[in-house]
Amino acid sequence: MFSSECRNDPEPRNGIPTAAFKKGSLANNAQKQPDMNTAHSTLDRMIDRLTTQRVALGWAAGCVAGSPGLVMEIGLGKGRTYDHLRSLFPQRDILVFDMGARVPASLRPDDDRLFLGDFRDTLPAATERFRGAVRLAHADIGSAREDEEDGIRNWIGGLIEPFLAPDALVLSDRPIGAGRRGWEPVDVPGTERWAYHGWRVG
Ligand SMILES: C[S@@+](CC[C@H](N)C(=O)[O-])C[C@H]1O[C@@H](n2cnc3c(N)ncnc32)[C@H](O)[C@@H]1O
Repeated sequence: MFSSECRNDPEPRNGIPTAAFKKGSLANNAQKQPDMNTAHSTLDRMIDRLTTQRVALGWAAGCVAGSPGLVMEIGLGKGRTYDHLRSLFPQRDILVFDMGARVPASLRPDDDRLFLGDFRDTLPAATERFRGAVRLAHADIGSAREDEEDGIRNWIGGLIEPFLAPDALVLSDRPIGAGRRGWEPVDVPGTERWAYHGWRVG
């Protein structure tokens, strides 16, 4: 029988000989992770990231409420934040950019709002149609390895800026506005466990 009381005792080991495993026992994991009680797993980090995004996007929706303009999603990825933006902004059109659309049909934006290809091509190509029309831009562009990001944090802000309406809000998982003239940093809530960045522009 399991006790109905949950206690916080240290986890006991397997209770079987280490030799039962080809690659060693779980005790080896403890050696790789110095403190098993405070280790932050991949699951923990994913939860932190998604929690931050939900708080930040909800906050952004409140910030721009009542100010007209399009929403821009730069980085469709799995469509998670796009789907959330759709629910936060049911009355606004959302322009979506990514290299490809690897999402189920239910998460695929309409063709006239979906811009597939490298940001360095698709953003400039769409600028004239939507110049000054965007109220909120969300750039979720990071990858697991920063050295695979192709310096994106340095160039993406300049490609987004022409789309922005005066006093637009930009949110990003990367510090894309750092040092940009006219980009005023704003404190984004919900970032205690995961970094997120915001700017008022123009
Ligand atoms: C962090 S993921 C986006 C996650 C997404 N917002 C979600 O919630 O599922 C980043 C996306 O940026 C896209 N990306 C990165 N660099 C790009 C580039 N230079 N041109 C086009 N897309 C790019 C990747 O294809 C990837 O889908």
